[in-house]
Amino acid sequence: MAVDVDKLRIVHYPDPVLRRKADPVGAITPEVRSVAARMVELMHEADGVGLAAPQVGLSWRLFVANWTGQRGEGHDWVFIDPQLVEPGRQVGLHQEGCLSLPDIRAEITRPLSITIHATGLDGKRFTLTGSGLDARVWQHEFDHLEGTLILDRMTRVDKLANRRKIKELEGE
Ligand code: CO
Repeated sequence: MAVDVDKLRIVHYPDPVLRRKADPVGAITPEVRSVAARMVELMHEADGVGLAAPQVGLSWRLFVANWTGQRGEGHDWVFIDPQLVEPGRQVGLHQEGCLSLPDIRAEITRPLSITIHATGLDGKRFTLTGSGLDARVWQHEFDHLEGTLILDRMTRVDKLANRRKIKELEGE
């Protein structure tokens, strides 16, 4: 089934696609490339630092990210069939938001450093190690491929603080 990239839009919780474990992408076809390009546009339009395929309704193991604060060639990264390995033992708290959970913010605890293996749009596997916003974004977006949301990782206090917004989304 071909994807109509012009119809892709960011879906919000509680859309069930956000809860599904996404499927491997495999070969980098022209369709995969055009989906990734459209996701990069949608991420920037929404002022996001990352966007995972389930967030545009596709249960694919693919996410795009730009944690550099800079636009253009070389700053937008595409991670296909990613694997996270070697999480650092040190964890830290940092505030996170999610384009599928508008207006919700929460302090999430995650390992501060991590290594990611993924396929790029050139079809080649690559490896990166990060220990800043990069590591944080990769872990947040990887969670989307597993059907995990910050709702599942936030503290009870943050859940209470965001209770009204969560209810609003559930009622949409
Ligand atoms: Co998110």
